Amino acid sequence: MSFWQHRWATEQIGWHREVHNDMMVEYWPAIGAPEGCEVLVPLCGKSLDMHWLAERGHAVVGLELVEQGVKAFFAEAGLSPDRKEQGDHVRYSRGPFTLFQGDALGLAPGTVQAEAWYDRAAMIALPDEMRTAYVEQLRQQTKPGAVGLLITYAYPQEEMDGPPFALIDEDVRRHFAEGFEVDQLAKIDLEDERDRGLSWITSSVFKITRT
Ligand SMILES: C[S@@+](CC[C@H](N)C(=O)[O-])C[C@H]1O[C@@H](n2cnc3c(N)ncnc32)[C@H](O)[C@@H]1O
Repeated sequence: MSFWQHRWATEQIGWHREVHNDMMVEYWPAIGAPEGCEVLVPLCGKSLDMHWLAERGHAVVGLELVEQGVKAFFAEAGLSPDRKEQGDHVRYSRGPFTLFQGDALGLAPGTVQAEAWYDRAAMIALPDEMRTAYVEQLRQQTKPGAVGLLITYAYPQEEMDGPPFALIDEDVRRHFAEGFEVDQLAKIDLEDERDRGLSWITSSVFKITRT
């Protein structure tokens, strides 16, 4: 059983929130996603943020490795999805939601052609050595001009093992240096979370545009 399957199977899903992400609510309008466009949500879990996006008229395409997470998302929404195998993935869909179950990094290029994406706890869930492939997938699954909202989490990596893995602002600029524009919208100090024993923790919000 993989690390993530084990986390779902043992209900160790401390990242999941019962409320919408306040940074998304505040900054989503700032990225200027086209009205009614398709939004890609990589490593989506069963995030309620997908409902918030759908309520704003977006079609939502989530990518989630673990079947249990996909099933929980639809069950908790009271929806019975259609299920269809597609290559190495299983596509679940109902209403505004389509979730591809399988490795997000292995989804066939162009399966999704989103005009926007939303990353909360996705890039930080991956170690640095997997992030180049992650950014390449964002390129493969979005249209030119697509806009993304990225929420990061940064701390001294040597003080804690991930996930979440630290994603510092300089690394965001490095990973998105080719073929993307990066605009930092905010940076906040997460003093409340210092009880993890970390000497500092910050979270930044970026608008990223695929050029
Ligand atoms: C930290 S959780 C965040 C979930 C969601 N973004 C949220 O904010 O609640 C990361 C999720 O990514 C999934 N995941 C990890 N590696 C993945 C991969 N390679 N492809 C697709 N999903 C993956 C995990 O199963 C987990 O549900």
